[in-house]
Amino acid sequence: MDTLNQFLCRHVVNSAHITTGKCEWESPSNIALIKYWGKKENQIPANPSISFTLKNCVTRTEVHYQKSSSFTFSIHVDGVPTPSFAPKIKTFIDRIILYCPFLNELALTISTSNTFPHSSGIASSASGMSALALTICSIEQALFGELNDEAFYKKASFLARLGSGSACRSLYSSLVSWGEHAHLADSSNLYGTPFVDVHPIFTHFQDTILLVDKGQKEVGSTEGHNLMHNHPFAEQRFQQAHTNLSRLLTALQSGDLTQFIALVESEALTLHAMMMTSNPYFILMKPNTLRIIEKIWDFRKSTGLHPLFTLDAGANVHLLYPDAEKIEIRNFIDQELKQFCQHDSYILDEVGSGPVRLQ
Ligand code: DP6
Repeated sequence: MDTLNQFLCRHVVNSAHITTGKCEWESPSNIALIKYWGKKENQIPANPSISFTLKNCVTRTEVHYQKSSSFTFSIHVDGVPTPSFAPKIKTFIDRIILYCPFLNELALTISTSNTFPHSSGIASSASGMSALALTICSIEQALFGELNDEAFYKKASFLARLGSGSACRSLYSSLVSWGEHAHLADSSNLYGTPFVDVHPIFTHFQDTILLVDKGQKEVGSTEGHNLMHNHPFAEQRFQQAHTNLSRLLTALQSGDLTQFIALVESEALTLHAMMMTSNPYFILMKPNTLRIIEKIWDFRKSTGLHPLFTLDAGANVHLLYPDAEKIEIRNFIDQELKQFCQHDSYILDEVGSGPVRLQ
C-alpha cells in the first residue's frame, strides 16, 4: 500500500485523551552513497538514493506537549530560545498538518541540540528533521496508540521527508534507500526503506568527516535541487543514478570494495559536476577538498588499502574505510590529511544503528 492515506491520522483530540506529556528522541545524520540531487513537487526525489546511517553525529530533540486551542510552539536550541529556527519548523508543520491534525490542538515546547557543532558545516537537517518527526509520531502514539512498530517508523520517515528529503533515510540502521528503483521491491518515493541484504564489511564501515570548511554554504541544498530543473544534464543524471544504484546494490551484497569505491567516488564528483554545470553555476569544493582527494588516491595506490571519499553539498570530505583498516587509515589522517582541515579538525563517525527513544 503506497498511498498517502496510510499516513493520515483520523482521530481528533477529546477529553478522554491525556493531552500533556513529553517525549525525547535521538536521531542520526546520514551520508549518501548514491546522491539525491533534484526533486519534484512535495519533496518527491528525481532519482533514488541510498545512504549509510551514522552513529555519532546525532540530534537530540525533546518535546513537551499540552492541550491548546490552536497550534503553537516554542523552540530552544542548546537550551537557548532560538526564534530564528521557527520559520523552518513552521514550514515543516504546515506540510505535515494534514497527516497529523491533532497538532492543531497542541502547544509544543521543542528543545533540541546536536552532538556536532553548528559551525562544523555539517548539515543538521537530516538528523534534526528525523528527530522531530519521531517526537511527533510518539505524540500520536501516546494520544491514540494505533501505530505498530513498522507503521510508526514508516510514518516518521514519511514526515521527515517533508521536512528535508535526506532526513527520511535517517530512520533505520546501516543502509537505507529512498526513491523508487526497479531492483528494490519495497522502495518508495514517500519514505526510506532499510536495505538489509548487506555484506558484513559494510555494517561497520568507518566515516571520518574532514572539516575543510566550517562556514555557511553559499548555495543551500534546496536552491541546488531547484537548479536541476532545466539543467542540461538532468535526465542523463537521473538515469545514471538508477544504473549506479543497481550496481552499488550488487557490490553491497557481495562485498566488492573495488566496485564500491568506483561508484561512490563517481557519485560524489557527479554531484559537484551538476553544481558546476547549473545555471547559475557554483562550486562548493575548496582547494583543500581537492588536496585531500589527491592524497586519498595516492595513499590507496601505494598501500593497497581501501579508503575512499564522498562529499555532500559542501567542502567537507567524508573519508570512508573498512573497520579492519582503521589503524593504518587513522595514522594516515593524522599524518597527511588533518593539516588540510580547519584547525586540524575532524569528526570520527561510523555506520550506526538508527534512532533511539530517550524518554
Ligand atoms: C547532497 O535533503 O538537504 O546531501 O530536501 O531540500 O532538504 P532538502 O535537501 P537535502 O539534500 C541533500 C542533498 C545531498 C545528497 C543526499 O543526501 O542524498
